Amino acid sequence: CIDIAKLPKETGCFTYDNGFTATAACRSAITYIDGDAGVLMYRGYPIEQLAKQSNFVEVAYLLMHGELPKQDELAKFEGDITHHTMLHEAFKNFLDGFRHDAHPMAMLMGMVGSMASFYHNNLDYEDPAERRLAAIRLIAKVPTIAAACYRYSIGWPLRYPRNNLEYVTRFLHMMKEVPSEPLELNPVAAKALDLLFILHADHEQNASTSTVRLVGSTGANPYACVAAGVAALWGPAHGGANEAVLKMLGEIGRPENVQSAVDKAKDKESGFRLMGFGHRVYKNFDPRAKIIREMTYKVLDELGVNDPLLDVAIKLEEAALKDEYFIQRKLYPNVDFYSGIIYKALGIPTEMFTVMFAIARTAGWVSHWLEQQADPENKIGRPRQVYTGATERDYVAIGKR
Ligand code: ACO
Repeated sequence: CIDIAKLPKETGCFTYDNGFTATAACRSAITYIDGDAGVLMYRGYPIEQLAKQSNFVEVAYLLMHGELPKQDELAKFEGDITHHTMLHEAFKNFLDGFRHDAHPMAMLMGMVGSMASFYHNNLDYEDPAERRLAAIRLIAKVPTIAAACYRYSIGWPLRYPRNNLEYVTRFLHMMKEVPSEPLELNPVAAKALDLLFILHADHEQNASTSTVRLVGSTGANPYACVAAGVAALWGPAHGGANEAVLKMLGEIGRPENVQSAVDKAKDKESGFRLMGFGHRVYKNFDPRAKIIREMTYKVLDELGVNDPLLDVAIKLEEAALKDEYFIQRKLYPNVDFYSGIIYKALGIPTEMFTVMFAIARTAGWVSHWLEQQADPENKIGRPRQVYTGATERDYVAIGKR
């Protein structure tokens, strides 16, 4: 119970909003979501159009700059990113310090944070050009770091970025087993990954982006802000769900076991939820899930992959969509439900799924950080609380307690 009289005078309205379900923490012109209608737009462009006609680097430009690039602007942007894909050699020493079995997200978080020690606070982040450079560096280097973390985790030597390749193919080349020369990367795989990157690039004030903005509101180094975003993304309620979905589908194992999984998810005592279902904002459908679902069939078909987990996923979706529990609570498959099946078909290991999400979301994180830093209204984020602790009492000496 709050004593309103004791609140500072300038407090217009004090709300208890657990999980920020109804509180806007900023103004933003980047991404628009209408959760009831299943609408998602980046800078006003519907996600369906971008998924069909654009590519990830162009989308990253759009998110950062607010407009689609002209040909020369895109070429310059791509050139800037390509110029910054390499890592300082000292990163290798840093990487070598991790345990051999560390989770790639743990390594990514540490490595991105360590960028703050390479591009440190002597740089003037008041200068918009310096801020843009930080954003470009992050978009360029996060895939290199991600691939390095993976290769380290399986004991392979690092591979340097091939700068004659495009963004997505360059990443696949750095990460995957030695491809033959001339480079033979499957164009279907590259297109599917590009699509997943577009769909994951931004999603307004989700937990990780809000984290980036909260850290950014203090004026912290941009690499530290993005490392905090990586940390927030890792949780299974957020980006970690894509890894959790695949594990869950594997545990369900066969279509005949689907109904008991659905029943278990309805039982609150079980502590089990259907991973990849439900969303804080989408209460109709997740438009990204719709696009990914279509792409899943295409990828499996074109790559000739017959994945029994897809049958389990389809059965699970069907069973949940006609179940009163899920209907009443408006729980639909979200972006992560099918993405894992595509990643698996592309030969990307499960523990890298959330890292893939992080590569794409870096474009959103840096765009929000840039928007925030340029905003004259930016002030330090400082949530309030409803205090539930002890009332005032006197200190008791240790011998008398
Ligand atoms: N399985 C079973 N029940 C669920 C699920 C689920 N996946 N999601 C929500 N519910 C139930 C809750 O138990 C609750 O039931 P109640 O009203 O009877 O208490 C109701 O639906 C509302 O759930 P909340 O947790 O209050 O919804 P919230 O908006 O806070 O959470 C979230 C959204 C975290 C995504 C949740 O749906 C969830 O945990 N889903 C599974 C994890 C997942 O897929 N996360 C990825 C989200 S997308 C992304 O971050 C990229």
